[in-house]
Amino acid sequence: MSVGWRGLKPGPSRREVLARCDVLSCCEGFSNGRTEWVTLNIIFRRLLWAQALDRRSRLLFYDGQMPANALPPEPPAQEWNSHRYAENARFVSDLGQAAFDLLNPQAGERILDLGCGDGALTEKITAAGAEVLGVDASADMVAAAKQRGIDARVMDAYSLNFNSEFDAVFSNAAMHWMKRDPDAVVPGVRRALKPGGRFAAEMGGHGCVAAITVALCATLEKYGVADPASLIPWYFPTADDYCERLERTGFQVEYIALIPRPTPLPTGMRGWLETFAIPFTNSVAEEGRAAFLDAVTERLRPALCDEKGRWTADYMRLRFLARVAG
Ligand SMILES: C[S@@+](CC[C@H](N)C(=O)[O-])C[C@H]1O[C@@H](n2cnc3c(N)ncnc32)[C@H](O)[C@@H]1O
Repeated sequence: MSVGWRGLKPGPSRREVLARCDVLSCCEGFSNGRTEWVTLNIIFRRLLWAQALDRRSRLLFYDGQMPANALPPEPPAQEWNSHRYAENARFVSDLGQAAFDLLNPQAGERILDLGCGDGALTEKITAAGAEVLGVDASADMVAAAKQRGIDARVMDAYSLNFNSEFDAVFSNAAMHWMKRDPDAVVPGVRRALKPGGRFAAEMGGHGCVAAITVALCATLEKYGVADPASLIPWYFPTADDYCERLERTGFQVEYIALIPRPTPLPTGMRGWLETFAIPFTNSVAEEGRAAFLDAVTERLRPALCDEKGRWTADYMRLRFLARVAG
């Protein structure tokens, strides 16, 4: 059975699939004799809708039956490859100086680098004399960090399991990838810190890569993808939003700012898209992906490429320093 987002003619959107599951669970309630007339009415109208969906796509249900354990399909995930990252995205850690300065690591401190990637900045913090642990969800990135001699572990930021161990937690360009549940990440950081510990981080902020996102979604619409915005893998909060999240978790926010940072792309828009836009690209059938990337690039050329062919991405950074009460 083919379930997924790939292909020029995609199956039902996640919203539609959830609606369909809703219909089936309503029917189950009915057969138990618990359903009232109002619900019956809703069921009838939703069944008509479900029939229309059935006609539109037969991707999800095998022989018209939903398997007992069927889940709505997940959108394609971002994939991290340390070689591609080093080739196209070295600028990410190279531009991490401001966040590093905010951290201001001291010799002898124990510091956690959250979403350490291939460890370029982790290495820099270690060079300042701190004892650093890097954690990252990507095994490939962690392997690259270990090759630099860094103490690094594969760990998901949603389930950090440290208790009052670190003087500081640092994170650069990673937390906007933690979109699924940002409120699960901050308490884990809080628990990891000793009393008086600090959290210094930079991430994408509200409006980051706005032009690129619009171009990706608009092009995917042309490819027949029904709800391209649901593929956006980034969470770009405002300063107010993030400040509230930090304070709710018991941090005192000493500094937070949203900073426009137009960012030159050494390997052009194509290199950026190939590194960071994988959830969008992988929603297109494999044979159509190169043309899709060409189309997105051409759409962006008038806005982000200068007369000499140099590309600049429309980055916005959210930078902050917060502290746990001592
Ligand atoms: C753009 S890279 C930044 C890497 C590094 N901090 C740097 O400055 O070069 C983002 C990193 O966040 C990691 N990441 C994304 N989601 C994560 C999660 N839920 N838990 C841990 N790491 C995550 C990715 O694996 C990736 O290595």
